[in-house]
Amino acid sequence: MGFAERVLHLAPEGAYHMLARAQALEAEGREIIHLEIGQPDFPTFQNIADAGVQAIRDGETRYTPSAGLLKLRQAIATQASAQRGVALRPAQVVVGPGAKPALFFPTLALVRPGDEVIYPDPGFPTYRAMIGVAGGVSVPVPLREEADFSFDLAALDAAITDRTRMIIINSPSNPTGGVLPMTALEHIAEIAIARDIWVLSDEIYTRLIFDGRDAASIYALPGMAARTIICDGFSKTYAMTGWRLGYGIMPEPLAERVGLLLTHSVGCTASFTQYAGLPQRYVFRP
Ligand SMILES: Cc1ncc(COP(=O)(O)O)c(C=O)c1O
Repeated sequence: MGFAERVLHLAPEGAYHMLARAQALEAEGREIIHLEIGQPDFPTFQNIADAGVQAIRDGETRYTPSAGLLKLRQAIATQASAQRGVALRPAQVVVGPGAKPALFFPTLALVRPGDEVIYPDPGFPTYRAMIGVAGGVSVPVPLREEADFSFDLAALDAAITDRTRMIIINSPSNPTGGVLPMTALEHIAEIAIARDIWVLSDEIYTRLIFDGRDAASIYALPGMAARTIICDGFSKTYAMTGWRLGYGIMPEPLAERVGLLLTHSVGCTASFTQYAGLPQRYVFRP
């Protein structure tokens, strides 16, 4: 069909692929135990569902600003600042339909053809996909089971070149559950600052740690606010996978560019979904 080069490498994401097959079997009446896609096995909390329904009843069914409702961006900035011990402004927050736009669009905005992007292996399949669409070169760095699935830091050092544009980290990790220790975050931050590299920190599982505090964010380390993009969202923590609500936190000039990509691709996130997200800060945290 003469597809463009940028989509030739795309392959199905295993989890979505298996979910579709499992749901097709369910439609035939088969009983399925779902172990494929990563989502809570309980429904969205009642107060969130009620807020979404109420928003529809109130007529909140129109376009919103592409980067999201200001009051939601303010709520996210407040919650994310308190969680990570940093001072975030609402203008740094870009709301999207799920967390994936906060991975894909910053990558499209920053990675130029031929730029190298380091990503964790094993890792979330979208990383490779989006690097390829941006025209970048995917550079896997292994996670080591014997180091609790932290990055192999020697391999990371060896993978850095003059073309390295971005390092993707995911802590806690999908699929390993590994959490990067502070020593690893400091090592990555040191390289990023010394070599002028962006860090895309996928923190979607940051609140799903059951033996202590939330996972530390590389964003909070000195010098990292200017070169870090946080990807986070509502899907996992608040059992909202089907609502499609997530966000990125990044320097303001990049947030503006990512906002433009949203404008020209999805337009904006569903308004009632954004209203449903507003009470999220009352569910687990003040
Ligand atoms: C590591 C990781 N990042 C991002 C996402 C995307 O989240 P969302 O469904 O909110 O787009 C997922 C979803 O499975 C994930 O596992």
